[in-house]
Amino acid sequence: MSIPVMKYEAVIVGGGGAGLRAALQLSEAGVKTVVLSKVFPTRSHTAAAQGGISASLGNVEDDNWHWHMYDTVKGADWLGDQDAIEFMCRQAVDAVVELEHFGMPFDRLENGKIYQRPFGGHMANFGKKPVRRACAVADRTGHAMLHALYQRNVKADTHFLVEWMALDIIRNKNGDVVGITALEMETGEVYIIQAKAVLFATGGAGRIYQSSTNAYINTGDGIGITLRAGLPIEDIEFWQFHPTGLAGAGVLITEGVRGEGGYLLNCNGERFMERYAPTAKDLASRDVVSRAMQIEINEGRGCGQNKDYVLLKLDHLGKDVIDQRLPGIREISLQFLGIDPVKEPIPVVPTCHYMMGGIPTNYRGEVVAPNGENMEDIVKGFYAAGECACASVHGANRLGTNSLLDLVVFGKSAGNSMVEYIKQHGDEYKELPEDAADFSLNRLAKLDNANSGESLADLRHEMQKIMQQHAGVFRTQSVLEDGINKIEALYARVQNLCIQDKSKVFNTARVEALEFMNTIEVALATMITAEARKESRGAQAREDFPERDDEKFMCHTLYYKDGRKIVYKPVHTKPMTVDYIPPAKRVY
Ligand code: FUM
Repeated sequence: MSIPVMKYEAVIVGGGGAGLRAALQLSEAGVKTVVLSKVFPTRSHTAAAQGGISASLGNVEDDNWHWHMYDTVKGADWLGDQDAIEFMCRQAVDAVVELEHFGMPFDRLENGKIYQRPFGGHMANFGKKPVRRACAVADRTGHAMLHALYQRNVKADTHFLVEWMALDIIRNKNGDVVGITALEMETGEVYIIQAKAVLFATGGAGRIYQSSTNAYINTGDGIGITLRAGLPIEDIEFWQFHPTGLAGAGVLITEGVRGEGGYLLNCNGERFMERYAPTAKDLASRDVVSRAMQIEINEGRGCGQNKDYVLLKLDHLGKDVIDQRLPGIREISLQFLGIDPVKEPIPVVPTCHYMMGGIPTNYRGEVVAPNGENMEDIVKGFYAAGECACASVHGANRLGTNSLLDLVVFGKSAGNSMVEYIKQHGDEYKELPEDAADFSLNRLAKLDNANSGESLADLRHEMQKIMQQHAGVFRTQSVLEDGINKIEALYARVQNLCIQDKSKVFNTARVEALEFMNTIEVALATMITAEARKESRGAQAREDFPERDDEKFMCHTLYYKDGRKIVYKPVHTKPMTVDYIPPAKRVY
C-alpha cells in the first residue's frame, strides 16, 4: 500500500520535558528534527509535576551530589543502576542552572539564589536528616519547565507535528529502527515518517488504574509500540502510588506540602508517620508513606464517614506561605472539594502516580535488548527518555523531584547520542522495508471494518477496576493470580473491539481505541511481572513475601509480549567513579 512519506533526520515522539530537551540538543546541533505530540507540547503531562526538580545546589544548607546519589540508590531499594544514578545526580546542578539560563522562573531566596524545599527521601550526609534539595517554581515547576523548553525549541527551529499519534516503529531486516508510522488526527491520514534516529519520550501509563494523578493522554503508547515490535520492557511491575492524591478525584496534591511543613493525620488526630519513619516522618520515601496510610485506613483509623482517607494538615503554615508556595494545591482543593486548606485539612489517599519501569535504555538513552549472550545489545536508531524509559535510575521506587531531573538529564543525553549517530550516517537514510506501513494499516483496517463487538468504554473501565483491585499498594499471590486471569480474559475481548464512529476527521473514538491497545499491554505486563516477583522491594509490597530477596531478585525484569516471556538481567551495581553502595535495610 502506498502512503505519504515524510523525512526527518530525527523524530521525537512526545512533546513533554524529555522530548523537548532532546529536540533542543538535536536542533541546536543542526539536525533536522520533528517533535510529534498528541497534544500541544505545553499541555504535556510534565505540566502536572508540581513540587520541584532535585539538585544538590546547597543553597540553603550543605549538600552534594554523592548524598543525592546515595538517597536515590536507597530510594530505589537497590534496583536502580548505579552508573546511571551517578550520571544523573552529578549532572543535576548543571541541568538546573541551564534551565535557569533558559528563563525558567524559579522561586528565589532572600539572597537571590534558587529557592529549595525538602522532599521525601532526600537526606543530608548519607541519610542522616532531610535536606532542602527540590528547586521549585511554587507548586507549578513542571509547567514552568515546559514553557521554557518549548520557547527554546521554537528559537532553535524544531518542527512540531501537533495532534499526531505514533502508531508503530518501522524496523529494517537488521532490526534497526528507520522510522515510524503516525496518524494525523485532524485528517485521519496515516503517514510514514522516515528517520535516521527515533526517540520515544511518550511518558507514562498511569491510566491503567482507576485512581490516578495522570493525564488522560498517559496511555503507555511507547510501551505498547515497543512490545508489538518484539522488544522487551523492563521492571513494569513497579508502580508508584503517590501518598497524597485528592480523595475521590485522584488529582495530585504535591509532596511539597509536606516539604513546607504539612503533615498527615489519622482519625484520632495522630501524626501517625512518627511511628512508621521516626527520623524522616512525613518526608520518608513515597512507598513507605503510601503503605503507612493504607495500613491506617485498613486498620480502621481512616477519616470520614467511610474511614477511607487520611488528612493532610497545612493550615498551620498560614495563608501567606500557602498562597506564595502552594497556590496551585489551594486552588485544586477548593475547586474539587470546596475545601480551603488555609482553614481545613485536605482528605488524601494513595493514588497511582508514576511508572518506574519502561523501555530499557543505558544512560546514553540508547534502547538496549538481549541478543544472544549480550543482555544489553543496542537497538540501532532507537532511543528513549523520560517516564517511558527505564535507564534505570528509579529502580523499585522513585524519589519525588527526580522525575523532572530524569527528563532533562536523559533527554539531553539521548539527544547527544542521536547527534553522534546521525552524524555517522552522512546524508544517507537507511532504506525502508517494502511493507513499512502494512502492520499499522492492517491494525487500523481491523478496527474500521468491525461492525459489532466490544465497547471501548466498558473494556477500559473494567481494566482500571481490575488493576486497582489486583495490583495496588499491597499484593498477594492469590490476588495477583486472579488478576492475571481477569486481565487475560479482558485482553481476549479487546481483540473484538469495535468503534461506531468510522469517520476520519478528528475521530477521537479511533484515537482512544488505538491508545487502549497500548494501555492494555501495559496492564497485562504489570500483572504478570508482579506475580512472578516473589519478594517485597520498593513499590512492590507482597504481603506473602514481606522481605526483599537480594539473592533471587536483585535483578531487572524483562517482559516480552510474545509468549508473555520473562527474562531477568543483572542490576548495574558498579557506579561510574565512586564506590558501590551495597544493599542495606531501608529505614527512614
Ligand atoms: O509531589 C509532587 O510534587 C510530585 C513530584 C514528582 O513526582 O516528582
